[in-house]
Amino acid sequence: MNTKLTAASLMELEDQYGAHNYHPLPVVLDSGEGVFVWDVDGKRYYDFLSAYSAVNQGHCHPKIVNSLVEQAKKLTLTSRAFYNSRLGVYEEFVTKYFGFDKVLPMNTGAEAVETALKLCRKWAYEKKGLEKDSAQIIVCENNFHGRTTTIVSFSVDPDAYNNYGPYTPGFIVIPYNDVVALEKVLTENENVAGFLVEPIQGEAGAYVPDNDYLKQCYDLCRKNNVLFIADEVQTGIARTGKLLACDYEDVKPDILILGKALSGGTYPVSAVLSRNEIMEVIHPGQHGSTFGGNPIAASVAISALEVVRDEKLAENAFALGEIFRNEMKQLCDDSKIASFVRGKGLLNALVINNEGHKDLAWDICLKLAENGLLAKPTHTNIIRFAPPLVITEEQLQECIEIIKDTVKSFG
Ligand SMILES: Cc1ncc(COP(=O)(O)O)c(C=O)c1O
Repeated sequence: MNTKLTAASLMELEDQYGAHNYHPLPVVLDSGEGVFVWDVDGKRYYDFLSAYSAVNQGHCHPKIVNSLVEQAKKLTLTSRAFYNSRLGVYEEFVTKYFGFDKVLPMNTGAEAVETALKLCRKWAYEKKGLEKDSAQIIVCENNFHGRTTTIVSFSVDPDAYNNYGPYTPGFIVIPYNDVVALEKVLTENENVAGFLVEPIQGEAGAYVPDNDYLKQCYDLCRKNNVLFIADEVQTGIARTGKLLACDYEDVKPDILILGKALSGGTYPVSAVLSRNEIMEVIHPGQHGSTFGGNPIAASVAISALEVVRDEKLAENAFALGEIFRNEMKQLCDDSKIASFVRGKGLLNALVINNEGHKDLAWDICLKLAENGLLAKPTHTNIIRFAPPLVITEEQLQECIEIIKDTVKSFG
């Protein structure tokens, strides 16, 4: 089969043989390097999605790819039935890097969230002393934590939960960015084990809570002996201009959930970090994953985190994020359809006024692609802009021009 398939035929294949659980932009990508991806016809794009913030270190970062290839030639998977020569080294590295006692390695973000929920419940029964099966975990409206049956049980998005019942009980949903609501539940309910929160709600459209929200929630959790669980799968690892979004408020979560950029997008690697007193409730045979902590994942994650540190990606995201939002604010002043911009670091969203043109954000994204920049709408009227953090100021300025010109061409 040497004949090169066209973009149309490749899309047709996905359409015919793959489940229709995504609605991709009609672009067929074939290669990537740094901030760029190329389609099968050789057209180059700036990637302003970064695989939902997994490719923070840029596409095919040579150092990360090299770790992957070298380790793949040596040993790929042992399962955790045996020790392997990479896992302990990675575990020491990642715990010291983020300042936690222990790590539990998994693969995808959703698995890591599941792990955190199980850990929290077990801690509640074995350390906090809650009665069997009584534990409640507080979550926030408009959350996005993944796609498992338990996680969609506390989603408020009908697309995510409809017809997947019966749902897992034990979750209390409160409004996001509402400290009073959290305090009320904590005061009225003695069975709360944890509070699971995204420091910025990524999928909801880069929704940034008020200053001090996380700190106040953290303090309330502490006061009530409730675990503060931060899902930094999307916000973590330099995306928001700090290593962790929680760092903005000097909050150290009891349980930290990481994924996506932990591998720079080269391999599914996720992790749950916590302190000994919490992690020690899990004993052999009580949780695990065949692939979690495999030698490739361990090698890749070390390199991915080294790149973040050595290339000062958090600092770059912080500085360029300020420039980006300032320019987008100007665009909002100049354009009738760009309402406002929000975000932190290089996790930003432009909110589009789509009154009378429901698919406007989608149409803008199609035009952006035509003009050489890939972005995707979330919740019909929000366009998320999240380029790889290796982007330079010069490249960002070029992208700002593309975005401004494209949006203005719609009004
Ligand atoms: C905050 C957050 N948590 C969890 C997940 C789920 O990660 P995964 O798709 O790797 O399961 C995502 C994915 O977008 C996310 O944004």
